[in-house]
Amino acid sequence: MSAQPELFTWEFATDPYSAYAWLRENSPVHRTTLPSGVEAWLVTRYADAKQALADQRLSKNPAHHDEPAHARGKTGIPGERKAELMTHLLNIDPPDHTRLRRLVSKAFTPRRVAEFAPRVQELTDRLIDGFEAKGEADLIHEFAFPLPIYAICDMLGVPRQDQDDFRDWAGMMIRHGGGPRGGVARSVKKMRGYLAELIHRKREEPGDDLISELIRTSDHGEHLTENEAAAMAFILLFAGFETTVNLIGNGVYALLRNPEQRERLQVSLAAGETELLATGVEELLRYDGPVELATWRYATESLVISGQRIAAGDPVLVVLAAADRDPERFAAPDTLDLSRRDNQHLGYGHGIHYCLGAPLARLEGQTALATLLRRMPDLRLAGDPADLRWRGGLIMRGLRTLPVEFTA
Ligand code: HEM
Repeated sequence: MSAQPELFTWEFATDPYSAYAWLRENSPVHRTTLPSGVEAWLVTRYADAKQALADQRLSKNPAHHDEPAHARGKTGIPGERKAELMTHLLNIDPPDHTRLRRLVSKAFTPRRVAEFAPRVQELTDRLIDGFEAKGEADLIHEFAFPLPIYAICDMLGVPRQDQDDFRDWAGMMIRHGGGPRGGVARSVKKMRGYLAELIHRKREEPGDDLISELIRTSDHGEHLTENEAAAMAFILLFAGFETTVNLIGNGVYALLRNPEQRERLQVSLAAGETELLATGVEELLRYDGPVELATWRYATESLVISGQRIAAGDPVLVVLAAADRDPERFAAPDTLDLSRRDNQHLGYGHGIHYCLGAPLARLEGQTALATLLRRMPDLRLAGDPADLRWRGGLIMRGLRTLPVEFTA
């Protein structure tokens, strides 16, 4: 048995997959101390991960965590300690989760997402127009970062003239999520204040947008409280933002590093086919997905996973990135195969917290990749891949920058 790899170092952030292979093999349910000082269990095998994601004994409610005082609130989502935004889907269990999820599912329908396709295409083209003539770009800042924030703002009904404020607040939250709290706290506060006001305005003057729909939607006569509506808008923004940035960033990077696969996709797109694009985006999610670890879970009672006893109150982190490379589940798991068929990856989670925004994420991912490859057929990395830096966050995996070149 080779030596146990060090976790959460700079090398690990660059390539966590060899460390995860070691854990799957040698310590599949692994106790570790996180950079924040919190002790948690990492679940790395696919079968265990899938089961844990659906296990109702693992609660999403942070109140179940008897953590030391110094670590409180470090659950990975900026501003989570603010009670008003705490009641969102990723922090609650049934029956509250069931009620709120049903309400939002009614408003966030596949039809609404499908209707949104032309707008996503238009946004994508507009962003590319902004840098096409330069022959170079940082695809994270100029493309992957603004696309989802404008898309979600549009969907929620944030007026266009206010969307740049949102982009700035969200940028602050991404950049400093695990760092200096002052700027993040200010951004969360501004966003919270803005959302409260927006919800108030939409109650008075509803429109054809998700917030108005959320307010209108009732469930057995029960409406969302103002607080629940704000928490819902916040989680839609938060859950749908950095994830999609990284789907595009990690996805483009993986394609540029696998030229035969990229070539196949370009040929298929040029022939007007969409099948390889659809299976390809799923494969990119499996191969190097945006959510490295699922959001936090806490054992409500003592339980056993793969022979390992976990005590009540212990945090459990399901490592989606490790599960999705498990050779017990996927043939040649370290190979990118855009046409992979048997691909039930856990990139969107599993069970009752399965990603609500998966149809929107697919739409954005497919539109972004197809349009980039069509408009910049000779897109290539600028500079040495060894110089690229990955963000060191716990939950998400994504590049800080992605410099590219192409024929203008
Ligand atoms: C939940 C991944 C985009 C909204 C989740 C979960 C994962 C995930 C893994 C489950 C977390 C857990 O169980 O701990 C992704 C990925 C995305 C993406 C990889 C992009 C590629 C989006 C978008 C939206 C969204 C665009 C909405 C606009 C949500 C919400 C939840 C969620 C609301 C919580 C659902 C619940 O608790 O019932 N997502 N997501 N996501 N996602 Fe996404």
